[in-house]
Amino acid sequence: MGRSSSLTRTRLSSIFRAEADPLRKGSRALIEQKTGFRRAIMAWYRRERRELSWRGVLDPYVVWLTEIMLQQTRVEQGTPYIERFLALFPSVEALAAADIDRVLKAWEGLGYYSRARNLHKAAKVIVGERNGQFPDTAPEWRTLPGVGRYTAGAVASIAFGRNEPVVDGNVKRVLARLTNLRASIDDTKVAEELWVLAGVLVQGKAPGDFNQALMELGAQICLPRNARCGGCPTRKYCAASALGVQDKLPKRRPKKTVPHHEVVIAAIKKNGRYLLGKRPADGMLGGLWEFPGGKVKTGEADAAALRREVKEELGIAVEVGDFVATVNHAYSHFKVTLRIYRCTHIQGKAVPNAHSELKWVLPRDFERYAFPTANHKFLKLLV
Ligand code: ADE
Repeated sequence: MGRSSSLTRTRLSSIFRAEADPLRKGSRALIEQKTGFRRAIMAWYRRERRELSWRGVLDPYVVWLTEIMLQQTRVEQGTPYIERFLALFPSVEALAAADIDRVLKAWEGLGYYSRARNLHKAAKVIVGERNGQFPDTAPEWRTLPGVGRYTAGAVASIAFGRNEPVVDGNVKRVLARLTNLRASIDDTKVAEELWVLAGVLVQGKAPGDFNQALMELGAQICLPRNARCGGCPTRKYCAASALGVQDKLPKRRPKKTVPHHEVVIAAIKKNGRYLLGKRPADGMLGGLWEFPGGKVKTGEADAAALRREVKEELGIAVEVGDFVATVNHAYSHFKVTLRIYRCTHIQGKAVPNAHSELKWVLPRDFERYAFPTANHKFLKLLV
Protein backbone atom coordinates (compact mmCIF):
# COMPACT_ATOMS: atom_id res chain seq x y z
CA MET A 1 0.00 0.00 0.00
CA GLY A 2 1.56 3.33 -1.14
CA ARG A 3 2.07 6.35 1.03
CA SER A 4 -0.40 8.62 -0.67
CA SER A 5 -3.20 6.13 -0.58
CA SER A 6 -2.82 5.62 3.15
CA LEU A 7 -2.80 9.41 3.56
CA THR A 8 -5.93 9.63 1.48
CA ARG A 9 -7.47 6.94 3.62
CA THR A 10 -6.63 8.86 6.78
CA ARG A 11 -8.15 12.07 5.43
CA LEU A 12 -11.21 10.29 4.16
CA SER A 13 -11.72 8.48 7.42
CA SER A 14 -11.44 11.68 9.40
CA ILE A 15 -13.88 13.42 7.10
CA PHE A 16 -16.10 10.38 7.28
CA ARG A 17 -15.85 10.41 11.04
CA ALA A 18 -16.86 14.04 11.18
CA GLU A 19 -19.83 13.26 8.98
CA ALA A 20 -20.67 10.08 10.74
CA ASP A 21 -20.87 11.90 14.02
CA PRO A 22 -24.37 13.21 13.56
CA LEU A 23 -25.20 12.67 17.20
CA ARG A 24 -23.41 15.79 18.26
CA LYS A 25 -24.49 17.67 15.19
CA GLY A 26 -27.96 16.22 15.38
CA SER A 27 -28.20 16.85 19.10
CA ARG A 28 -27.03 20.42 18.66
CA ALA A 29 -29.60 20.99 15.93
CA LEU A 30 -32.36 19.71 18.19
CA ILE A 31 -31.15 21.77 21.12
CA GLU A 32 -31.18 24.88 18.94
CA GLN A 33 -34.85 24.24 18.24
CA LYS A 34 -35.62 23.24 21.79
CA THR A 35 -38.39 25.77 22.42
CA GLY A 36 -40.43 24.80 19.39
CA PHE A 37 -39.79 21.11 19.93
CA ARG A 38 -40.90 21.28 23.57
CA ARG A 39 -44.00 23.25 22.71
CA ALA A 40 -45.00 20.75 20.01
CA ILE A 41 -44.48 17.60 22.10
CA MET A 42 -46.12 19.04 25.21
CA ALA A 43 -49.24 20.20 23.34
CA TRP A 44 -49.52 16.78 21.74
CA TYR A 45 -49.06 15.02 25.08
CA ARG A 46 -51.77 17.03 26.76
CA ARG A 47 -54.14 16.19 23.91
CA GLU A 48 -53.27 12.60 23.12
CA ARG A 49 -51.88 10.92 26.22
CA ARG A 50 -53.57 7.72 27.22
CA GLU A 51 -55.76 8.27 30.23
CA LEU A 52 -54.48 5.76 32.75
CA SER A 53 -55.55 5.39 36.36
CA TRP A 54 -52.09 6.36 37.64
CA ARG A 55 -51.58 9.21 35.18
CA GLY A 56 -51.68 12.62 36.83
CA VAL A 57 -51.36 11.17 40.34
CA LEU A 58 -48.48 13.05 41.95
CA ASP A 59 -48.26 10.99 45.14
CA PRO A 60 -44.58 9.93 45.25
CA TYR A 61 -45.52 6.44 46.44
CA VAL A 62 -47.77 5.90 43.41
CA VAL A 63 -45.24 7.42 40.99
CA TRP A 64 -42.41 5.33 42.41
CA LEU A 65 -44.39 2.08 42.28
CA THR A 66 -45.63 2.86 38.76
CA GLU A 67 -42.17 3.59 37.41
CA ILE A 68 -40.71 0.44 38.98
CA MET A 69 -43.55 -1.74 37.70
CA LEU A 70 -43.37 -0.33 34.17
CA GLN A 71 -39.70 -1.13 33.74
CA GLN A 72 -39.37 -4.07 31.35
CA THR A 73 -43.18 -4.10 31.23
CA ARG A 74 -45.60 -2.53 28.77
CA VAL A 75 -48.03 0.08 30.10
CA GLU A 76 -51.05 -2.03 29.07
CA GLN A 77 -49.69 -5.09 30.84
CA GLY A 78 -48.45 -3.24 33.92
CA THR A 79 -51.46 -1.03 34.66
CA PRO A 80 -53.73 -3.78 36.13
CA TYR A 81 -50.81 -4.85 38.32
CA ILE A 82 -50.35 -1.27 39.55
CA GLU A 83 -54.04 -1.06 40.44
CA ARG A 84 -54.11 -4.40 42.26
CA PHE A 85 -50.89 -3.59 44.09
CA LEU A 86 -52.20 -0.23 45.30
CA ALA A 87 -55.44 -1.86 46.49
CA LEU A 88 -53.40 -4.34 48.54
CA PHE A 89 -50.71 -1.90 49.72
CA PRO A 90 -52.21 1.60 49.56
CA SER A 91 -49.33 3.41 51.27
CA VAL A 92 -45.61 3.06 51.87
CA GLU A 93 -46.46 2.20 55.48
CA ALA A 94 -48.74 -0.64 54.37
CA LEU A 95 -46.03 -1.92 52.03
CA ALA A 96 -43.29 -1.73 54.66
CA ALA A 97 -45.46 -3.67 57.14
CA ALA A 98 -46.41 -6.38 54.63
CA ASP A 99 -44.92 -9.83 54.48
CA ILE A 100 -42.58 -10.22 51.46
CA ASP A 101 -44.51 -13.34 50.39
CA ARG A 102 -47.64 -11.21 49.89
CA VAL A 103 -45.63 -8.65 47.93
CA LEU A 104 -44.21 -11.36 45.66
CA LYS A 105 -47.69 -12.82 45.20
CA ALA A 106 -48.87 -9.39 44.01
CA TRP A 107 -45.91 -9.28 41.60
CA GLU A 108 -46.49 -12.82 40.31
CA GLY A 109 -46.29 -12.93 36.51
CA LEU A 110 -44.50 -9.60 36.07
CA GLY A 111 -41.01 -11.09 36.21
CA TYR A 112 -37.79 -9.45 37.45
CA TYR A 113 -38.79 -10.15 41.03
CA SER A 114 -35.81 -8.32 42.48
CA ARG A 115 -37.82 -5.19 41.67
CA ALA A 116 -40.46 -6.31 44.19
CA ARG A 117 -37.90 -7.29 46.80
CA ASN A 118 -36.08 -3.96 46.46
CA LEU A 119 -39.32 -2.00 46.53
CA HIS A 120 -40.20 -3.71 49.80
CA LYS A 121 -36.71 -3.06 51.23
CA ALA A 122 -36.86 0.59 50.22
CA ALA A 123 -40.32 0.96 51.80
CA LYS A 124 -38.84 -0.31 55.06
CA VAL A 125 -36.03 2.26 54.80
CA ILE A 126 -38.47 5.11 54.12
CA VAL A 127 -40.72 4.14 57.01
CA GLY A 128 -38.07 2.90 59.45
CA GLU A 129 -35.23 5.35 58.85
CA ARG A 130 -36.86 8.38 57.26
CA ASN A 131 -39.98 8.62 59.33
CA GLY A 132 -42.14 7.95 56.27
CA GLN A 133 -40.67 10.94 54.39
CA PHE A 134 -39.86 10.38 50.73
CA PRO A 135 -36.68 11.89 49.32
CA ASP A 136 -37.43 14.84 47.02
CA THR A 137 -34.31 14.92 44.84
CA ALA A 138 -32.98 12.43 42.31
CA PRO A 139 -29.61 11.86 44.07
CA GLU A 140 -31.40 11.04 47.33
CA TRP A 141 -33.80 8.69 45.59
CA ARG A 142 -30.80 6.84 44.16
CA THR A 143 -29.63 5.87 47.63
CA LEU A 144 -32.68 3.59 48.00
CA PRO A 145 -32.54 -0.10 47.02
CA GLY A 146 -33.60 -0.73 43.42
CA VAL A 147 -33.65 2.94 42.46
CA GLY A 148 -31.38 3.72 39.52
CA ARG A 149 -30.97 6.72 37.30
CA TYR A 150 -34.23 6.14 35.43
CA THR A 151 -36.47 5.71 38.49
CA ALA A 152 -34.83 8.58 40.36
CA GLY A 153 -35.30 10.91 37.37
CA ALA A 154 -38.89 9.82 36.84
CA VAL A 155 -39.98 10.25 40.46
CA ALA A 156 -38.06 13.48 41.01
CA SER A 157 -39.53 15.04 37.85
CA ILE A 158 -43.08 13.69 38.01
CA ALA A 159 -43.75 13.86 41.75
CA PHE A 160 -41.44 16.74 42.74
CA GLY A 161 -41.20 18.88 39.59
CA ARG A 162 -37.40 18.57 39.41
CA ASN A 163 -35.67 19.20 36.08
CA GLU A 164 -34.28 15.68 35.88
CA PRO A 165 -34.18 13.67 32.64
CA VAL A 166 -35.38 10.12 32.09
CA VAL A 167 -34.03 7.83 29.41
CA ASP A 168 -35.71 4.48 28.87
CA GLY A 169 -36.00 2.34 25.74
CA ASN A 170 -38.73 4.55 24.24
CA VAL A 171 -36.82 7.76 24.92
CA LYS A 172 -33.63 6.31 23.41
CA ARG A 173 -35.48 5.46 20.22
CA VAL A 174 -37.17 8.87 20.00
CA LEU A 175 -33.93 10.80 20.60
CA ALA A 176 -31.90 8.57 18.29
CA ARG A 177 -34.34 9.29 15.45
CA LEU A 178 -34.72 12.99 16.16
CA THR A 179 -30.94 13.38 15.97
CA ASN A 180 -30.25 10.73 13.29
CA LEU A 181 -27.93 8.90 15.66
CA ARG A 182 -25.90 6.34 13.70
CA ALA A 183 -23.97 4.83 16.59
CA SER A 184 -25.31 1.93 18.64
CA ILE A 185 -27.50 2.96 21.59
CA ASP A 186 -26.10 -0.07 23.44
CA ASP A 187 -22.73 1.67 23.60
CA THR A 188 -22.26 3.18 27.08
CA LYS A 189 -20.82 6.45 25.76
CA VAL A 190 -23.66 6.87 23.30
CA ALA A 191 -26.24 6.18 26.00
CA GLU A 192 -24.50 8.75 28.18
CA GLU A 193 -24.84 11.36 25.43
CA LEU A 194 -28.55 10.64 25.25
CA TRP A 195 -28.81 11.33 28.99
CA VAL A 196 -26.99 14.60 28.47
CA LEU A 197 -29.28 15.54 25.58
CA ALA A 198 -32.41 14.61 27.58
CA GLY A 199 -30.99 16.63 30.47
CA VAL A 200 -30.82 19.73 28.29
CA LEU A 201 -34.26 19.23 26.73
CA VAL A 202 -36.01 18.72 30.08
CA GLN A 203 -34.99 22.16 31.38
CA GLY A 204 -38.21 24.16 31.49
CA LYS A 205 -41.70 24.01 32.91
CA ALA A 206 -43.43 20.76 33.86
CA PRO A 207 -40.44 18.39 33.58
CA GLY A 208 -42.61 15.45 34.64
CA ASP A 209 -44.98 16.03 31.74
CA PHE A 210 -42.09 16.59 29.35
CA ASN A 211 -40.47 13.28 30.32
CA GLN A 212 -43.74 11.43 30.03
CA ALA A 213 -44.40 13.11 26.68
CA LEU A 214 -41.14 11.65 25.32
CA MET A 215 -42.06 8.20 26.61
CA GLU A 216 -45.61 8.51 25.32
CA LEU A 217 -44.41 9.58 21.88
CA GLY A 218 -42.27 6.43 21.81
CA ALA A 219 -45.24 4.29 22.82
CA GLN A 220 -47.83 5.78 20.46
CA ILE A 221 -46.10 7.35 17.45
CA CYS A 222 -42.38 6.67 17.27
CA LEU A 223 -42.90 2.89 17.25
CA PRO A 224 -39.99 0.47 16.88
CA ARG A 225 -41.31 -0.63 13.48
CA ASN A 226 -43.62 1.33 11.17
CA ALA A 227 -43.16 4.63 12.96
CA ARG A 228 -46.24 6.77 12.45
CA CYS A 229 -44.38 9.83 11.19
CA GLY A 230 -47.52 11.10 9.47
CA GLY A 231 -49.14 11.73 12.86
CA CYS A 232 -45.99 12.91 14.65
CA PRO A 233 -46.17 16.31 16.31
CA THR A 234 -42.37 16.64 16.18
CA ARG A 235 -41.79 15.49 12.62
CA LYS A 236 -40.35 18.80 11.53
CA TYR A 237 -37.61 18.43 14.14
CA CYS A 238 -36.78 14.85 13.16
CA ALA A 239 -33.57 14.23 11.23
CA ALA A 240 -34.31 10.53 10.63
CA SER A 241 -37.78 11.21 9.25
CA ALA A 242 -36.40 13.88 6.91
CA LEU A 243 -34.01 11.27 5.48
CA GLY A 244 -36.60 8.49 5.58
CA VAL A 245 -34.33 6.34 7.76
CA GLN A 246 -36.55 6.18 10.87
CA ASP A 247 -37.12 2.43 10.51
CA LYS A 248 -33.35 1.82 10.43
CA LEU A 249 -32.86 3.55 13.79
CA PRO A 250 -31.91 3.15 16.53
CA LYS A 251 -28.88 1.02 15.77
CA ARG A 252 -28.37 -1.85 18.17
CA ARG A 253 -25.46 -4.11 18.97
CA PRO A 254 -26.22 -7.55 17.44
CA LYS A 255 -28.06 -9.71 19.97
CA LYS A 256 -26.07 -12.52 21.57
CA THR A 257 -27.64 -15.88 21.02
CA VAL A 258 -29.05 -16.94 24.36
CA PRO A 259 -28.36 -20.36 25.86
CA HIS A 260 -31.14 -22.92 25.89
CA HIS A 261 -31.48 -25.33 28.81
CA GLU A 262 -33.34 -28.61 28.96
CA VAL A 263 -34.89 -28.91 32.41
CA VAL A 264 -36.84 -31.71 34.09
CA ILE A 265 -39.42 -30.95 36.77
CA ALA A 266 -40.72 -33.34 39.44
CA ALA A 267 -44.36 -33.19 40.49
CA ILE A 268 -43.89 -35.30 43.62
CA LYS A 269 -47.21 -36.29 45.16
CA LYS A 270 -47.89 -37.84 48.55
CA ASN A 271 -51.27 -38.05 50.34
CA GLY A 272 -52.79 -35.65 47.83
CA ARG A 273 -50.09 -32.98 48.35
CA TYR A 274 -47.26 -31.86 46.10
CA LEU A 275 -43.80 -31.00 47.31
CA LEU A 276 -42.88 -27.36 46.66
CA GLY A 277 -39.63 -25.52 47.36
CA LYS A 278 -39.15 -21.83 48.00
CA ARG A 279 -36.24 -20.37 46.04
CA PRO A 280 -33.53 -18.63 48.09
CA ALA A 281 -34.35 -14.94 48.69
CA ASP A 282 -31.43 -13.57 46.67
CA GLY A 283 -30.87 -14.56 43.08
CA MET A 284 -33.13 -15.26 40.19
CA LEU A 285 -36.84 -15.71 41.00
CA GLY A 286 -35.82 -15.31 44.65
CA GLY A 287 -38.61 -16.00 47.16
CA LEU A 288 -40.88 -17.71 44.62
CA TRP A 289 -42.19 -21.25 45.04
CA GLU A 290 -41.48 -23.93 42.47
CA PHE A 291 -41.57 -27.63 41.76
CA PRO A 292 -38.15 -29.22 42.27
CA GLY A 293 -36.01 -30.11 39.27
CA GLY A 294 -33.02 -29.02 37.28
CA LYS A 295 -30.97 -29.14 34.13
CA VAL A 296 -30.57 -32.34 32.15
CA LYS A 297 -26.91 -33.12 31.45
CA THR A 298 -25.78 -33.95 27.93
CA GLY A 299 -26.66 -37.54 27.14
CA GLU A 300 -28.64 -37.99 30.33
CA ALA A 301 -32.12 -39.51 30.21
CA ASP A 302 -34.95 -37.47 31.74
CA ALA A 303 -35.70 -40.08 34.42
CA ALA A 304 -32.06 -40.28 35.49
CA ALA A 305 -31.78 -36.48 35.58
CA LEU A 306 -34.92 -36.29 37.71
CA ARG A 307 -33.72 -38.89 40.21
CA ARG A 308 -30.34 -37.14 40.44
CA GLU A 309 -31.77 -33.62 40.83
CA VAL A 310 -34.34 -34.71 43.42
CA LYS A 311 -31.65 -36.55 45.39
CA GLU A 312 -29.37 -33.47 45.31
CA GLU A 313 -32.02 -30.87 46.06
CA LEU A 314 -34.19 -32.79 48.52
CA GLY A 315 -32.19 -35.84 49.64
CA ILE A 316 -35.01 -38.21 48.72
CA ALA A 317 -35.53 -41.08 46.30
CA VAL A 318 -38.41 -40.96 43.84
CA GLU A 319 -39.86 -43.19 41.21
CA VAL A 320 -40.44 -41.33 37.96
CA GLY A 321 -43.93 -41.84 36.56
CA ASP A 322 -46.04 -40.31 33.79
CA PHE A 323 -44.93 -37.45 31.62
CA VAL A 324 -47.27 -34.44 32.14
CA ALA A 325 -46.27 -31.71 29.71
CA THR A 326 -43.55 -29.79 27.91
CA VAL A 327 -43.34 -26.04 28.55
CA ASN A 328 -41.15 -23.55 26.75
CA HIS A 329 -40.28 -20.29 28.43
CA ALA A 330 -37.95 -17.41 27.58
CA TYR A 331 -36.16 -15.47 30.29
CA SER A 332 -34.15 -12.36 29.51
CA HIS A 333 -30.81 -14.17 29.25
CA PHE A 334 -31.71 -17.74 28.41
CA LYS A 335 -34.49 -20.04 27.28
CA VAL A 336 -35.74 -23.19 28.88
CA THR A 337 -37.68 -26.24 27.85
CA LEU A 338 -39.27 -27.78 30.91
CA ARG A 339 -40.49 -31.40 30.89
CA ILE A 340 -42.72 -32.20 33.83
CA TYR A 341 -43.15 -35.72 35.21
CA ARG A 342 -45.30 -37.16 37.97
CA CYS A 343 -43.11 -38.76 40.62
CA THR A 344 -43.77 -40.87 43.71
CA HIS A 345 -41.82 -40.46 46.86
CA ILE A 346 -40.21 -43.77 47.83
CA GLN A 347 -37.64 -43.05 50.45
CA GLY A 348 -36.22 -40.44 52.82
CA LYS A 349 -37.42 -37.23 54.45
CA ALA A 350 -37.17 -34.19 52.21
CA VAL A 351 -34.64 -31.57 53.30
CA PRO A 352 -34.15 -28.14 51.68
CA ASN A 353 -30.62 -28.45 50.21
CA ALA A 354 -31.35 -25.97 47.43
CA HIS A 355 -34.37 -24.10 48.77
CA SER A 356 -34.97 -21.92 51.80
CA GLU A 357 -38.08 -23.90 52.70
CA LEU A 358 -40.07 -26.96 51.58
CA LYS A 359 -43.80 -27.60 51.89
CA TRP A 360 -46.28 -30.32 50.96
CA VAL A 361 -49.17 -28.38 49.45
CA LEU A 362 -52.71 -29.34 48.39
CA PRO A 363 -53.44 -28.35 44.78
CA ARG A 364 -56.40 -26.22 45.89
CA ASP A 365 -53.93 -24.12 47.93
CA PHE A 366 -51.55 -23.46 45.00
CA GLU A 367 -53.20 -20.06 44.51
CA ARG A 368 -51.77 -18.86 47.81
CA TYR A 369 -48.21 -19.22 46.56
CA ALA A 370 -46.27 -17.07 44.10
CA PHE A 371 -44.90 -19.24 41.27
CA PRO A 372 -42.66 -18.35 38.33
CA THR A 373 -44.71 -17.93 35.15
CA ALA A 374 -43.11 -21.03 33.65
CA ASN A 375 -44.67 -23.09 36.47
CA HIS A 376 -48.09 -21.55 35.83
CA LYS A 377 -47.98 -22.99 32.39
CA PHE A 378 -48.36 -26.54 33.80
CA LEU A 379 -49.92 -25.94 37.23
CA LYS A 380 -53.47 -26.40 36.02
CA LEU A 381 -52.60 -29.81 34.56
CA LEU A 382 -51.84 -31.05 38.07
CA VAL A 383 -54.98 -29.74 39.79
N1 ADE B 1 -43.43 4.09 30.75
C1 ADE B 1 -42.93 4.05 31.98
N2 ADE B 1 -43.33 5.10 32.69
C2 ADE B 1 -44.14 5.82 31.88
C3 ADE B 1 -44.83 7.02 32.05
N3 ADE B 1 -44.80 7.67 33.18
N4 ADE B 1 -45.54 7.47 30.99
C4 ADE B 1 -45.55 6.77 29.82
N5 ADE B 1 -44.91 5.65 29.62
C5 ADE B 1 -44.20 5.16 30.64
